[in-house]
Order: sequence, then C-alpha cells, then structure tokens
Amino acid sequence: MIEKKIFGTLPDNREVYQYTLTNKSGCTVTIINFGAIVTSLLMPDRNGVLENLVLNYDSLHGYVNDQCYFGAIAGRYGNRIAKGRFQLEGNQYQLSINDGTNHLHGGKTGFSKKLWEGKILNTDSEPSLALTLISPDQEEGYPGTVTLTVTYTLTEKNELRIDYKGTTDRTTILNPTHHSYFNLSGSCANTILDHELSIDSDFITMVDHELISTGESYHVHHTPLDFRTPKAVGRQINERDPQMLMGKGYDHNWILKNFDGHVRNVAQVYEPRSGRHMAVLTDQPGLQFYSGNFLGGTVRGKDGFTYQNRSGLCLEAQCPPDSPNKPEFPSVVLKENETYHQTTIYHFSIK
Ligand code: BGC
Repeated sequence: MIEKKIFGTLPDNREVYQYTLTNKSGCTVTIINFGAIVTSLLMPDRNGVLENLVLNYDSLHGYVNDQCYFGAIAGRYGNRIAKGRFQLEGNQYQLSINDGTNHLHGGKTGFSKKLWEGKILNTDSEPSLALTLISPDQEEGYPGTVTLTVTYTLTEKNELRIDYKGTTDRTTILNPTHHSYFNLSGSCANTILDHELSIDSDFITMVDHELISTGESYHVHHTPLDFRTPKAVGRQINERDPQMLMGKGYDHNWILKNFDGHVRNVAQVYEPRSGRHMAVLTDQPGLQFYSGNFLGGTVRGKDGFTYQNRSGLCLEAQCPPDSPNKPEFPSVVLKENETYHQTTIYHFSIK
C-alpha cells in the first residue's frame, strides 16, 4: 500500500509530497520527493513494537536547512573530492566547494536539496516508489546532463531496497549514496554506542586531517577500525589511533571484500535491548561508516529533540572517496552510452 499526501511547500511555492509505503506485515517507510529523503522507517522490536529507526525533522523546513543529509540521496558524488577538482578526458573541472576547501556530497545544492519527480510503481505487499531527478550540465560544476532514478521498495522480508539507475548525455562522474542516520533502539534519546557492528573488510582508505583519502589503504588489524567480528561502536571510539583522531570518531570508508558487481552482505548492526538487527547488502566496492560525530547539540529534530553526537550512524554504500583523483580506486566515470546501476539493501530483522 502507498499513501501520498502533501508534506510542505518550498520557498518557491513548489509542493513536496510524502509517500508512505506499507508492506504486508505493517512496517512502513515514509519518503519525500525533496532530496529523495527517507523521513521515517517503522520496524518492530522483539516484542513487535513498531518504532522509528531513522533521525528526522518535524517539517520540510528542517530538511531545507539541513546540513547533515538526514535520510537523503547524496550526489552526484557522495563523499569528498579534494579541492573539488578532477580531470576527465583531458578537461579540468572545478566543482563547488562546500566543506572547508573540498567538495562534499554533490556541493552547495546537491541531489539532497532537489525536488525529484515521484512515480508510484507498485502498491501491493511490496510497495515501490521511483524518484527521478534531471541534473543539468554544469550543475555544481559537473559536466553532462544526468538523469537518475532511485527506486525505493519495502519488501515482504522487511528490506528497504534502493535501486539506482543513471544516464548522462556527456562523460561525467556519478557516485550517489543513501544517507540515513540509523538508531535501531527506536529512541534518539539513546546513542548508537551500544550498537554492535561488523563490516566485512580488512582495510579502510586512509584519510588526512580534512578527511580526504591519501590513496593508501590502512589495515584494520589491532586498530579500533577492526569490525571483522561484531563489536560495540563505543568500545574503542575514543582510542588515540591516528585515523580515529582525523575523523573525531568513525568517519571512514571500508574497502569491502568480494567486489564483483553482485550484491553481497557487507555489514551487520545489532541493538541488544530491542533485539533489532540490520544487515547491509550492496554491489558497491566501499562503505562509509560515519558515527554521527558532528551532530552534537545544534541539530533540532523531530518534536524539538536536540540530537547529540552519536545519536545515529550512517552506513553509506559507494565508491571510495576522491576516486576521480585516485586511479587506483574503482572508476566512477559514466559515459553517454552507459548506464549506472547500484543496488543497496537494508534488511531488518530480530535476533
Ligand atoms: C561524512 C561526514 C559528514 C557527514 C555529513 C558523512 O557522509 O562522512 O564527514 O560530516 O556525511 O555531511
């Protein structure tokens, strides 16, 4: 089932719609066509109690002014590009700068701040909503007109499935990602420090003090970044590892194993009190794990609640950061006769 209603009106009077997708077991996801944002996700705990598992705002105003990318599709390029510069087919491009001296999540008005076109695809027990955005040539400095469709499906197995399909009319780069902040406890009064996380990866891409990839990989063995077996996020978050100091906590890209274009299970999160479990499956080579280190005290969310550092965590599937300047990383180049695809699934269950 899908319900559609008006969510709010943008300053330029365009209307924003909210779509509520409900599956067979009564779980729901709400999505707005501004930023293709997931505004709530109701999943049961071990007693069957449905609670919201994503950080959110009360109204459209919160999303328009948001600096944290709550629930959004970040793009064209999710993550950072050093100095916003890169070369493509012999041309030098300068993107907008919106994070210190660097480009982050598509720039000043990236995909997360655009009004997308919504189309209800399926209203049965596995409801599905397609959102399409046309990003013109030179927007935020990127070459080529890109058309991106993101399809959200709430499956009968309680998966939030996200399928991306993108094309361009001229060679460009494309690396979108989904940016929900999850808190599986169901209450953002709790932090995510007791969430037990595992990531199927031996290496992160090393970063400098501006969180720009150095191009080197950093073995997680004997470091707080080792999530090869499940570990509470808070257990080693304050250790003085050089990479942890750069991110003020976890804000790194894990190089995922078995990257061959197929969807595989890459990460797990378990919240012991509620019994909720989330598996992340993706066909992408990298996973940014961000422990919400910069949320602290200033972000007022739903019901006027002020989020704190570590109120939520992001697990963002993508190509590793600054890949346009790192030939050793998988390519994010998209040519006019090609189609970009990504599938990422967040699968919720009880353990
Ligand atoms: C980045 C963080 C950034 C956050 C909000 C995350 O994807 O890794 O460094 O602060 O997004 O912009």
